[in-house]
Order: sequence, then structure tokens, then C-alpha cells
Amino acid sequence: MEKDVKEILLTEEEIRARVKELGEQITKDYKDKNSLVVIGILKGASVFFADLIREIKLPVEIDFMAVSSYLDSSVTSGEVKIIKDASISTTMKNVLFVEDIIDTGFTMAKVKDIFLERGANSVKLCALTSKPDRRKIDIDIDYLGFEIPNEFIIGYGLDYAEKYRNLPYIGVLKEEIYQ
Ligand code: IMP
Ligand code: MG
Repeated sequence: MEKDVKEILLTEEEIRARVKELGEQITKDYKDKNSLVVIGILKGASVFFADLIREIKLPVEIDFMAVSSYLDSSVTSGEVKIIKDASISTTMKNVLFVEDIIDTGFTMAKVKDIFLERGANSVKLCALTSKPDRRKIDIDIDYLGFEIPNEFIIGYGLDYAEKYRNLPYIGVLKEEIYQ
């Protein structure tokens, strides 16, 4: 695995420190609200999600969704499909989506709209990383871990063709792997 990493972009320590800060901010912002449903977007956000929810010191409900915009490659299909829906009710509740990366923005723009339509009280987004240069649609990221350059990253949940998710840090994938 390590041999396919061009460089380490975010170390385990950097990620841990930032996740703690995000958790503290979320705790502060939601402490007087009567609900918080944290929904992780599978599979990429799974590692970030597990660390983040333990830094939120509130009685949260958790759920997961799987949506696909990228198929088995690093090229976007431009289409969003719900593979697995959330199972707990979010009507009149405050929803916080947790995502690994905001790239074009299509996936989360669509998912946010769906939940507003379903009658959530509020819908916010927490993303570990964002590639602003790649954005194709305007989307607010309420809690952002790191802005990153326009390179293909792997690790800490992020995959290339379903691999590398278990790297403990975030690295840039070597070009020769996906060319
Ligand atoms: P968006 O709809 O273009 O914002 O797509 C975001 C999704 O694309 C993320 O949930 C990732 O699954 C995938 N993605 C985008 N960029 C990368 C990357 O650099 N590494 C791994 N997955 C990525
Ligand atoms: Mg994803």
C-alpha cells in the first residue's frame, strides 16, 4: 500500500487534532438544540465518522447512507444514486452529514436537498477535506477539516478502486497507479 503513496498530505496527528477541534465546535453549536442526527456517508466517511462522533459530547443519534457518484474509478459519473438510505426518522430533527471529501459538490448538494424536502429542521455538512478548485456547484461546508489541492487522495477512509481506505493517514496517490 505505502509504495503507491506519492506523499503524505495529512499525518495521523494532524488529522486527530483537527477532528478534535471540529467535535468541539459541533458540541458548542448544538448544545442547546433538542436533537442531532449525525449521518455518515459510506464508505469513505466511515473512519472520520467513527473518530468525530467520539469528539461530540452530546447525546447524538447516528445513521449511515450510501450514495454513489463515483463508480469504481477516480472519474465522476455526475449522477447521484441512493444505494442505502438512512433508517431513522429525521423529520423536525437537526441533521449533520459527515463526508470524507467535497469534490465537485454534486453528491452532498443533492443529499442535502433530499433531507430538507423530507422535513428536517436543519441540514448541515461536515467534511474532512475539500478540493475547492474542482467545485462545479455552490455548496456550504459548515465544518471543514482541511482544504486540499487538486490531487487524488487516499487513506483514512478514502479509496482508489476500493483500496487504501485503511491507511491511517491521508496521502496522494502516485499518478502511475491510475493512469
Ligand atoms: P463530489 O460529488 O464530486 O463532491 O464527490 C465526492 C465523492 O467523490 C467523495 O465522497 C469521494 O467518494 C469521491 N472523491 C472525490 N475526490 C476524491 C479523492 O481525491 N480521493 C478519493 N475519493 C474522492
Ligand atoms: Mg464518498
